[in-house]
Amino acid sequence: MPASRRGSGTLTTPSGQTLAFHTRTHDEEDLPHATKKTMADHLRKYESLFTLTPQRMRMIVEAFKDTLELGLQKHDQVVPMIPTFVFGWPTGKERGDYLAVDLGGTNLRVCLVTLQGEGKFEITQSKYRLSEEQKQEDGQKLFDFCAECLKTFIDSNIKEGTIKEGQELPLGFTFSYPCSQERIDHGQLIRWTKGFGVTNTEGRDVAAMFIESLGKADIPVTLTALINDTTGTLIASHYVNPRTKIAVIFGTGCNAAYMEKMGNVEKSKSLGIKDDAEMAINCEWGAFDSFEHEHLPRTKYDKVVDETSNKPGEQAFEKLISGRYLGEILRLVICELIDEGVLFLGQNTYKLEAPYVFDTAFLSLMESDPTDELLMIIGIFTHFFAVETTLAERQFFRALAMLIGKRAARLSACGIAAIVSKMGYLEEGCSVGADGSLYNKYPGFADRIHEGLIDIFGEKGKNIVTHHAEDGSGVGSAIIAAMTKERKDAGLYTHV
Ligand code: GLC
Repeated sequence: MPASRRGSGTLTTPSGQTLAFHTRTHDEEDLPHATKKTMADHLRKYESLFTLTPQRMRMIVEAFKDTLELGLQKHDQVVPMIPTFVFGWPTGKERGDYLAVDLGGTNLRVCLVTLQGEGKFEITQSKYRLSEEQKQEDGQKLFDFCAECLKTFIDSNIKEGTIKEGQELPLGFTFSYPCSQERIDHGQLIRWTKGFGVTNTEGRDVAAMFIESLGKADIPVTLTALINDTTGTLIASHYVNPRTKIAVIFGTGCNAAYMEKMGNVEKSKSLGIKDDAEMAINCEWGAFDSFEHEHLPRTKYDKVVDETSNKPGEQAFEKLISGRYLGEILRLVICELIDEGVLFLGQNTYKLEAPYVFDTAFLSLMESDPTDELLMIIGIFTHFFAVETTLAERQFFRALAMLIGKRAARLSACGIAAIVSKMGYLEEGCSVGADGSLYNKYPGFADRIHEGLIDIFGEKGKNIVTHHAEDGSGVGSAIIAAMTKERKDAGLYTHV
C-alpha cells in the first residue's frame, strides 16, 4: 500500500510489526467527513460504469448466441458446450435408492436419495465444509477425502443389511467444474474454476480418480454418472416442473444447462447417436468472453479481480456475476475511495484492505437494510472492519451494492436470453430452474433478471420465468443415475 495515501492505513516494520497510521489536515477535523454531496458525485461516476443499457444487452446476447453455436460445432472452444450423455427428460417414474456425492465450490455433500416416482423423493444428507487448503492440495487426496466422507455417511445412515452381499448402490457424482466427457461415467477436467487450484487433476479423468479412492476405501458403490450441478438442476427441476427447459446456477460460480437435439451438435456426429435424440448440454458459460474480452463491459475493478485471481483471463462472464467475486468488486471500489481520501478519513482501514474479506452476503444485507439509519450497514462496517460510517457513506454503499448486484442480474439475463433465442423458446415461453446462493438469498436478483429479459425482448420477455429449482446436485444427481441405469439396462447407447 503506498505510504503517500491520505487518510489511513498500515505499515509493516522490518521486524514484521504492523503499525497503524493516519494523516489528516485541519479542514478534516469533523470526522468522519464524507458528505452527502461528495458521495452523490462519486455515485454518478459508478452509475455510468456499472449500468447496462438494453441496447448493450442485446449486443451481448447476439455475441453470446454465436459463441454457443460455435461450442456445439467444434471441440475445444472457449465456451465448451459439453455433451453430458444425459438423454432427454426424466419420466417422473424413476424409483429406487441412490447415493450422490456433490463436490461444489464451498462444501462437500453426501446424500442418500430415495426416488418414489410421480416427482416425489426423500433425501438424507451430510455436509462438510471444504477448507482453503483442501482447495489447493493434491487431487487424489481430495477424492480420498470424498470417499472417506461417503464411507462415514453410509456407515451411519444405511441400516445394516440394506445393502445385500455383493450388491452395489448406484452413485451419482456431482462434480461442478468443466469436464469434457466421452461417456457419462468419465470426465476429463478441462480447468479448475471458482478459485480451486487442486494439483495433479487438470487434464485427468476425475471419475477414474474418484473410483480409485472408492476402491481404496472399499465402498460398495458403482459410479454410474458424473454430472455437473447445472445438468442435475435441469433434470431435477423438470422432474417436479415439466415446463422447465433451462437450468442456471448463480452461486460461487455461474453456469447453465439446457436440452439440445443431437443433430445440432456437429462436433459429436461421430458418436453414432440419432439426430433427433435429445441430450443435456452443460454450457460452461462462465467462460464466455474469456481471454479476448471483446464483448463484456469490464471496469478497472473487474480487471483487477481477474488479474489477481489464480486464473487470469479465464471465466470472464462468471467473474462479473458470481458470488465469489461481487463482494471483492465492491471492496475494490471502496479501497479506491479510501486511496483518494474520500472515505473513512482518520480511521484505520487495514481490515478492508485484504483481498476477498468483503463477503458477497454483505451486499445482499446492505441492499435489504430496512432501517432509515441503515443500521445493518453500520453493523457490518463496525463489526467486521472496525470503521465508523456516516449516513451519506452508508447510503452510498447501499447504492453501490445495488449497481453491482443489478449488473450481475442483467448480465445473467443476457445469458438466459441467448439460450432462449437460440432455441426459439420466446413465443411459447418456458421456465428456467435457478439455484445458488446469489439467486436464493440476494434480494431482488430474480426480479432484476426478469426486468432484464423484458429489456432484451420487450413484453414477450415476460414469457420467460425463472423459479427456484429443485436440488440438482443431490436429487438431480440421483435421477440421472436412475435414468442412466435404466438406459443401459435397456441396451440404449451403452457405449456412452
Ligand atoms: C463454475 C463451474 C461450473 C459450475 C458453476 C456453478 O462455473 O465451472 O461447472 O456449474 O461454477 O457451480
